Amino acid sequence: MSELVDTFGRAHDSLRVSVTDRCNLRCSYCMPEEGVEFEPRDHVLSFEDLSWTVDIATDLGIDAVRVTGGEPLLRANLPTFVEMLDQRHALDDIALTTNGLLLERHADALAEAGLDRVNVSIDSMDTERFAEITRIGGLESVVRGTVAAARAGLEPLKINTLIVDGFNTDELDRWVEITREFEVTVRFMEVMPIGEAARGGHVGDFVDLTDVRERLADRHDLEPADTSVGNGPARYWKAPDAAGTLGFITPMSHPYCDTCSRLRLTSTGDIRPCLADDAQVDIASAIQRRDTEAVETGFQFAVERKVAGHEWRDGATTETGMSTLGG
Ligand code: GTP
Ligand code: SF4
Repeated sequence: MSELVDTFGRAHDSLRVSVTDRCNLRCSYCMPEEGVEFEPRDHVLSFEDLSWTVDIATDLGIDAVRVTGGEPLLRANLPTFVEMLDQRHALDDIALTTNGLLLERHADALAEAGLDRVNVSIDSMDTERFAEITRIGGLESVVRGTVAAARAGLEPLKINTLIVDGFNTDELDRWVEITREFEVTVRFMEVMPIGEAARGGHVGDFVDLTDVRERLADRHDLEPADTSVGNGPARYWKAPDAAGTLGFITPMSHPYCDTCSRLRLTSTGDIRPCLADDAQVDIASAIQRRDTEAVETGFQFAVERKVAGHEWRDGATTETGMSTLGG
């Protein structure tokens, strides 16, 4: 039972650990074209530091860790970190969120190290559109990486696709067809006003995915699916007899803050209780001096101050970008 219970009664058992704020894409809703100033390398915690912090988090009730970035596979020797998580902690779930560009080369090593599963971002299945939204491209590498992850047994395999009005809404039906054929979970996500997206940097507008889900359900006879393995906010549906499932992540049209069980640890040692709220608790120096009590207090303090949820629907925005927080 988690000791990390906030003032709204929500128990936290899931920790998203960002291992780097660097990224090898420049998605228009995430970063400006020229990129952002990254943290100096000596501010980024070592795997040993991060793993030691996860030790304490597990003592407090965390039982699932998602490794995030920036792009986590840019961090050298990531499988070493996964192995530390797997061998040193009694975790039920070790997952990775990646843009997939480097996944082909690392999928086997990650699986051998103890990674359970991956979520890959693919905002378009059209090569040119993918290059447009990411400003770099590389869809073929991402698809090869996704296939390599499936072959390595990193399942359930999930694809995250951000739905942007006038950009990729015409791909929704194609994704449904993909789930009929392949054992994959495709999750449609709404744009959130975070970082660059809040500053108008995305390529189009928000799409209400609760409406989209109703329309897709009519067109494809979708039915609710069992909640897939996971600790995130998606709600799952399925086409009849499909091999895979569909997920809908609807922070704007149908918020899920009342069931939030997630905390975030940044690569530089801040605990972030809520994605939407820029408040963070800096535990970097406590980690570096291996001060267990101070780190425990940091987690408790962060949880006690966690807000009820986002106020994006009332026009609030979040300053810190996704690349620092890993989503
Ligand atoms: P599963 O454990 O597989 O369910 O993963 P997940 O959905 O938690 O992780 P992933 O990194 O794939 O997250 C996909 C997207 O879900 C993110 O980019 C966010 O849009 C959204 N999301 C995940 N967690 C939160 C959260 O705590 N708050 C909000 N507002 N959105 C979240
Ligand atoms: Fe949790 Fe904050 Fe995300 Fe709401 S916005 S689900 S409270 S992290």
